[in-house]
Amino acid sequence: MYEISLHPVSDAVRKHALIDNDAYLRLYQQSIEQPELFWGEQATSFLTWFKPWDQVHRSDLKKGEAEWFKGGKLNVSYNCIDRHLEQRREQVAIIWEGDNPAESAQVTYGKLHQHVCRLANVLKARGVKKGDRVCIYMPMVPEAAYAMLACSRIGAVHSVVFGGFSPDALRDRILDADCRTVITADEGVRGGKYVPLKKNVDKALKDCPNVSTVVVVERTQGEVEWVEGRDLWYHQALQGASDDCPPEWMDAEDPLFILYTSGSTGKPKGVLHTTGGYLLGAAMTHKYVFDYHEGEVYWCTADVGWVTGHSYIVYGPLANAATTLMFEGVPNYPDASRFWQVIDKHQVNIFYTAPTAIRALMREGEDPVKKTSRSSLRLLGSVGEPINPEAWEWYYNVVGDRRCPIVDTWWQTETGSILITPLPGATSLKPGSATRPFFGVQPVLLDDKGKEIDGAGSGVLAIKASWPSQIRSIYGDHKRMVDTYFAAYPGYYFTGDGARRDEDGYYWITGRVDDVINVSGHRIGTAEVESALVLHDAVAEAAVVGYPHDLKGQGIYAFVTPMKGLEPSDELKKELLALVSKEIGSFAKPELIQWAPGLPKTRSGKIMRRILRKIACNELDNLGDTSTLADPSVVQNLIDKRLNQ
Ligand code: WTA
Repeated sequence: MYEISLHPVSDAVRKHALIDNDAYLRLYQQSIEQPELFWGEQATSFLTWFKPWDQVHRSDLKKGEAEWFKGGKLNVSYNCIDRHLEQRREQVAIIWEGDNPAESAQVTYGKLHQHVCRLANVLKARGVKKGDRVCIYMPMVPEAAYAMLACSRIGAVHSVVFGGFSPDALRDRILDADCRTVITADEGVRGGKYVPLKKNVDKALKDCPNVSTVVVVERTQGEVEWVEGRDLWYHQALQGASDDCPPEWMDAEDPLFILYTSGSTGKPKGVLHTTGGYLLGAAMTHKYVFDYHEGEVYWCTADVGWVTGHSYIVYGPLANAATTLMFEGVPNYPDASRFWQVIDKHQVNIFYTAPTAIRALMREGEDPVKKTSRSSLRLLGSVGEPINPEAWEWYYNVVGDRRCPIVDTWWQTETGSILITPLPGATSLKPGSATRPFFGVQPVLLDDKGKEIDGAGSGVLAIKASWPSQIRSIYGDHKRMVDTYFAAYPGYYFTGDGARRDEDGYYWITGRVDDVINVSGHRIGTAEVESALVLHDAVAEAAVVGYPHDLKGQGIYAFVTPMKGLEPSDELKKELLALVSKEIGSFAKPELIQWAPGLPKTRSGKIMRRILRKIACNELDNLGDTSTLADPSVVQNLIDKRLNQ
């Protein structure tokens, strides 16, 4: 058994930090006992409002209802740019580091303002209005942030789709949100490879007749096809646009963005976030969790296509007038030293990445790290999946030279901002634990009857009271949101994660309790992969589960039943992988495909995934209750032929 070490807050870190343990305890208590007072003060101190709110907060979790700062008027791009201009026009807002180490750029707050206003005016000229949805399908270039901010400036609702999604997946998301405008680039560049973004958009739009505008950023000058009247080059369109674009006054509860994420069942859900509460959550956590001090360089390695990129590359840091680094590339290109070289090159102070990247780099040994200085680093962060203690210690000892605290931050697309996390000046660290709740957050563990567990114990992780950046709806299907998150345990927000609480009240996230798999920090619904697999004519049935994977955290294990009389082959396997790439994206391809003459089912025909999970994880000692199996012999066959031994 791995012995967990305790890492108390060092004097140096505490002295420098914005919040020490006394302050944490005091503020946490206030946030729970006097939420109106606490959040009212925070909203005033973090954000600039055109008009004050009528009421700080109103919620009814039983109905999934939450409102924060209703009646208050503000604009997100104004808060992220304009209000900083007087003092910081020349300060760098975004440092861009290209895939190619020879390419980088700096964007000042003044330049950011100009780009965002011009693009906002271009969108307006194309008829985009408040409330309209705009799809953003972009590589990691500053224009992705300009696009998000330009939408927020005019009150349009952006839906960023990760550049790794296939044309089919992009089409589904464009149609679901009825986007009429798409912002993209000719091609993306990652690890020296080109990603045909415009080509993908063209394919997707064959089935999206409502899209009337495609704005194309020129990134590689690769060849693209052009639809006259619909397509316009970003650089040409901006040339003629005015720098002046007054920000739209948005209600705190007006939608800010939609972001698709995977759930247990069915198609991806368009998680909807609103303006005031979301921005407050992003800004406040960015400042306190990363202990952000003026003038520091902050780097989050996520992609803007995921929620981490929204809250912690763009909105949180910019709302706090930070300098945020945006990286186009991948951790191991040109070599495994890249992250650490970028840290030295741009003198990064705060570094936030995912355990999967740490594990991959750990495999390369210490040399690629040790040949860099990393002396600018002060704080490290982790997000997206549980970090195993070994990876934590390596991150701490080797990358951070035992000097930098690690904030292991637990949160979700639906939570909008970090909910459980250490604060560097306040919290003693235990490797692998996300530790304690952020201000205003009341986590609880529920047993299988839905009762709260007191003290140390394990259960399903739920949240007891509303917080400002909470999900407000699933776009186009509000009932689904209520059913998914608020129906299972009335009065609570259900996270879908399991967790353990130790004697010190620290939380240890144990992973999803539903049919969501977390592959390299990418959330993938088993149902989505199954639907892709069964599209193949040769497939009768498919069931997909996760299994532990050394590098990726979890891998995808698919049990596939071919059509009767059909001989499965490696060729068919390849076709199935290609099909998943086409339907979702190559990041969702199963690592293992096992041919299954039959799947374990109950007598009523329900697939018993619990058993498949055990087989995939090679946990055969305790398969659980198998008495309801319609045909027990099916299980033995799958065990005998299992691929993960
Ligand atoms: C998992 C990413 C353990 C968890 C921000 C959650 C984590 C899902 C952590 C959300 C962490 C995220 N420790 N597990 N620090 N952070 N998770 O929506 O299972 O892409 O439910 O948001 O990632 O993934 P999502």
